[in-house]
Amino acid sequence: RKFPYGNFLPPKVRKPRRMSPVFLQSLRDFYFMRAARDGCFCAGMNLNDRRKRALCRPFPIETRTTVRKFWRIQMTNIAVLVSGGGTNLQALIDAEAAGKIENGGIRLVVSSNPNAFALERAAKAGIETAVLRRKEYDSAERYGEALDALLREKEIGLIVLAGFMTVLPDSFCAKYENRIINVHPSLIPSFCGEGFYGLRVHEAALAKGVKVTGATVHFVSEVVDGGAIIAQKAVEVEPGDTPESLQKRVMQNAEWILLPQAVSDFCAGRLSVSGAIVTRQE
Ligand code: GAR
Repeated sequence: RKFPYGNFLPPKVRKPRRMSPVFLQSLRDFYFMRAARDGCFCAGMNLNDRRKRALCRPFPIETRTTVRKFWRIQMTNIAVLVSGGGTNLQALIDAEAAGKIENGGIRLVVSSNPNAFALERAAKAGIETAVLRRKEYDSAERYGEALDALLREKEIGLIVLAGFMTVLPDSFCAKYENRIINVHPSLIPSFCGEGFYGLRVHEAALAKGVKVTGATVHFVSEVVDGGAIIAQKAVEVEPGDTPESLQKRVMQNAEWILLPQAVSDFCAGRLSVSGAIVTRQE
């Protein structure tokens, strides 16, 4: 067909290549986003990252990556704080590798225990690690300051406590209000607070004879295990359960599912907090 605009366009444009439907769709999405951005600029709207992320939510995940680069949306840098085996850290690493942590990446793993296996998991995944031992600081405040300095250096936007057994000082919790997520192995407000951690939680649940337990993912406040609840999942207690078998089932069926989901929701800007109530937007 004769090109109607004379000869001034380069030959490449005159004879378009065949393009795959997927490529065409992402091209359409890209131009749609550009039009949306220009429209916002014209209307004098100054969109923050949260609104930009909301705008690209209807698009498929591959397009969102293009769109994120296009809008220059900042990825949320995540720090995971650990003390032990790190199976929850592993669940986060695996989720990120599978592209299930939307708009976030694990940048740092901090351990309160130099022998934590979690450090090996992090190193294997190529994530930077640091060890901060509580006993090397004369007060909880000093510990909090050292941790804060480390997190600021890496521009951390979300802190995840994944089996972190050191209680953080109030000043630190206040500074990072609604930016620290913890996973706890029971249905809060049961079996939580000072002294309830790790296997002890399951021992207490079995001693009480509960028939259902589970896990909770929540924001961290100054009250131990008292922050706003993001998500919970119930797990049945089975006859003959030991603390170890119950811990394993709660981890597999609840913790390793809830935690990556909550982290992704946070990074994608889907969570809003009002007092003690967290709302998840679809
Ligand atoms: C997990 O069960 C986690 O819920 C719990 O410690 C375990 C750590 O396992 N956390 C608490 O009890 C906090 N109060 P992991 O190191 O294999 O992730």
